[in-house]
Amino acid sequence: MLPGVFPVHRPRRLRRTAALRALVRETAVGPGDLIWPLFFSANVDEPREVPTMPGVVQLPVSAAGRVAREAADLGLGGVILFGLPQSKDARGASACDPEGPVPRAVRAMKEAAPGLVVVTDVCVDEYTDHGHCGVLRQARDGSLEVDNDATLEVLAEAALCYARAGADVVAPSDMMDGRIGAVREALDDDGFADTAILSYAVKYASAFYGPFRDAADCAPKFGDRTGYQMDPANAREALREAELDAEEGADMLMVKPGLPYLDIVALLRQEFDLPLGVYNVSGEYAMVKAAARAGMLDERRVVLELLTSLRRAGADFILTYHAPDAARWL
Ligand code: PBG
Repeated sequence: MLPGVFPVHRPRRLRRTAALRALVRETAVGPGDLIWPLFFSANVDEPREVPTMPGVVQLPVSAAGRVAREAADLGLGGVILFGLPQSKDARGASACDPEGPVPRAVRAMKEAAPGLVVVTDVCVDEYTDHGHCGVLRQARDGSLEVDNDATLEVLAEAALCYARAGADVVAPSDMMDGRIGAVREALDDDGFADTAILSYAVKYASAFYGPFRDAADCAPKFGDRTGYQMDPANAREALREAELDAEEGADMLMVKPGLPYLDIVALLRQEFDLPLGVYNVSGEYAMVKAAARAGMLDERRVVLELLTSLRRAGADFILTYHAPDAARWL
């Protein structure tokens, strides 16, 4: 027996009662750490269920005020809005329409719950007829590819449109190079120096986004997103992406997806002092829902455990479809 180890040290002493466990608990999750993703559609009059995401709906803009008050009453940290527009084109111009579903929902939410933090996703994939996150051009071999620099313009325009509607934070999720700088400049030039940028700095090309593409109607019509989203095999590249976005003026960083990338969350937490978010994405949500519905696991315990793990890995806040349920349970 090693001297000074067992039986002197017995870690179980501090696990003996709920009160002792609470006293020494290292990580807390509260409703204020959660951001609720919402889908506003110009094409529905009633909430419409998303079949692959039980409990998630596409909302009509008329529901925005009610949902804002609900989020505020639950004490959530904020909401992040996605839009399904009436019309799509090659450039994604409807992302910049001040009468589009997102700007209209932002205005209604800020009116109904002025204290609620309203974030808008900034990306054109919901607004392009081809479903890619940018403007296309012909590559040298004749195939189509996303034109990075041409896309920056439409992203900056969309971000400005959401800032004008009253968004507190804009969150570019497109993974174009240079977009944080382009968005910052457009905001500053138009008098929106106080609008914050949450960068989806480290976004992997993930199969876990599958259900989201149903919810937001944004699956690419050809090819995939591996030409702009990151390779799941890369960790050093995450540092580089985050560093560039921080230099360009990101106020907050995000890692996406969440659970399969806890190592990346921990890495960024160690290397950066900006607030750090993580996106517990649609596929992670759908897996829990499906297993719970099949009676295979206890949804409530699993959700609270996975939210805790995302916080423990180093995330300050979590974007999650579980937000309203979790807030009620916490
Ligand atoms: C792009 C965007 C996506 C998600 C958030 N923003 C989809 C994608 O990159 O294909 C996915 C979120 C989720 O899966 O929950 N606008």
